[in-house]
Amino acid sequence: MTDDQWFREAVVYQIYPRSFQDSNGDGIGDVPGIIRRLDYLEQLGVDVVWLSPIYTSPQDDNGYDIADYQDIDPTFGTLADVDSLIEQAHARGIRIVMDLVVNHTSDEHPWFVESRSSKDNPKRDWYWWRPGRGAEGRDAPNNWESFFSGPAWELDEATGEYYLHLFSRKQPDLNWENPEVREAVYAMMRWWLDRGVDGFRMDVINMISKDTALPDAEPVPGSSMVFGGDHFLNGPRIHEFLREMHASVFEGRPEKLLTVGEMPGVTVEDAVLYTDPERHEVDMVFQFEHVGLGIGAHKWDRSRVDLRDLKASLGRWQEGLAKVGWNSLYWNNHDQPRAVSRFGSDAPEHRVASAKLLGTVLHLHRGTPYVYQGEELGMTNVPFATAADFLDIESVNYYALAVAAGGDAEHILANLRIGSRDNARSPMQWDDTTNAGFTTGQPWSATNPNYTEINAAAAVADPESVFHHYRRLIELRHTEPAIAHGDFTMLAPDHPTLYAFTRSHEGTDLLVLANFSGDELDLSDTITEPDRWSASTMLLGNLADPASPTAPLRPWEARLLKG
Ligand code: GLC
Ligand code: CA
Repeated sequence: MTDDQWFREAVVYQIYPRSFQDSNGDGIGDVPGIIRRLDYLEQLGVDVVWLSPIYTSPQDDNGYDIADYQDIDPTFGTLADVDSLIEQAHARGIRIVMDLVVNHTSDEHPWFVESRSSKDNPKRDWYWWRPGRGAEGRDAPNNWESFFSGPAWELDEATGEYYLHLFSRKQPDLNWENPEVREAVYAMMRWWLDRGVDGFRMDVINMISKDTALPDAEPVPGSSMVFGGDHFLNGPRIHEFLREMHASVFEGRPEKLLTVGEMPGVTVEDAVLYTDPERHEVDMVFQFEHVGLGIGAHKWDRSRVDLRDLKASLGRWQEGLAKVGWNSLYWNNHDQPRAVSRFGSDAPEHRVASAKLLGTVLHLHRGTPYVYQGEELGMTNVPFATAADFLDIESVNYYALAVAAGGDAEHILANLRIGSRDNARSPMQWDDTTNAGFTTGQPWSATNPNYTEINAAAAVADPESVFHHYRRLIELRHTEPAIAHGDFTMLAPDHPTLYAFTRSHEGTDLLVLANFSGDELDLSDTITEPDRWSASTMLLGNLADPASPTAPLRPWEARLLKG
């Protein structure tokens, strides 16, 4: 491995600053709060911390709407706090990766304020402005819908034209066709790197190149959304833009930086191109296939994922990026409901085991694992009581439109409880004091009442906790080369409850066995070479030691064997 590939042996921890640790009692997490918790992250052993956006922002989408890329929102602290965070993280051997949100800005960004001021403003062309259609010009320029419900176009009365916003109307899309936009973004990125940050997680970065004709979208069969995706996902110039960014920002830096592109709708074939080190685009991408499973015609119709589909999907990504490119691995982030509630079991008798099982399966795949804050505690979805408890713009908009369209409020609420992003954004559960030790004030989002039992203080004190299991998984990645570098082979793809695979590297073989069910699972028909594996060493398990490495798996049991 060259130094350029250090990220293959690394584990990234994602912080959603708003919900991580409040330091001043205003109920919102902040940068000084993160600094206070660096010892905790060092104990967990993570190599990199990725921060969701902390820049100046009106917070329409909790900071993914940025009004100044080169300053910190006062809610989160100051630039001096960030300098101090970088310094103190580096002192512990932890790298800091910032969120880069450049598909769009806030409508309060000075670039947009100028752009909307007149049709001949020099920054007019920095965004996507189009006249309306129809006799009066009162119809949107095309039929695309926003990811946050409703049309993707907003009429701006000042000049009588529409601007494109794939997300909220306070998130106008930047026009990457304009070279001035690109250079302004690259200059801003260089400024952050000069300040000491170690890379970027690039928000919806495969949406920056759009079909400039902005044609109407065909309705997608089976989907209720008129989705323009064909015209802006992995668009005509995307590879060119990413390579230009690489050359302008990353090339020639003394240290290899981390780049991960968030890419909805990316295929394995696209990902090979994006992540081939020879092509100098990004190190890895976040793909969405596995978290899209079990979702019906409408984003909010969700059912339990069939394990065979999960294995088929993740297995295909393992295979597709085996030789060229690299995977990122995640169950959770700030946009996903909690993994233990979704793929595991949050029933009291299975929560700890299934959270450890999910960690084991994910971290033993080939790729760089991401841990989302609280995942290492087995934090669960939140029992939100009423519609008013949901605060996220996506959930709020969906609820309002679905109710207005005559939907059944109870059914809509039930969908939100399962699928809302708010599930990921409840305060981090630090201890069993008021508000889980997150704030001395009123938390901005409801604390999950299970914090009295599920919290970091209890987990750190208990050697059998989910936390210590994650700590061991991270340590193993650093010490057992087959985990970072080994080949991956899926076993028993058609088994409905067994997730099993091997990893092989220079004469070392690892076998992962995981029972995704509350029933005992006999392995005798599924393990080839039973003699060999029954004599193998167990590197890690999630329950009391089994009678033998190949004994039947107990409910939600996972084992890592070294043969
Ligand atoms: C990404 C972010 C999400 C945000 C959206 C718009 O998907 O992860 O939180 O709402 O982009 O920036
Ligand atoms: Ca605060």
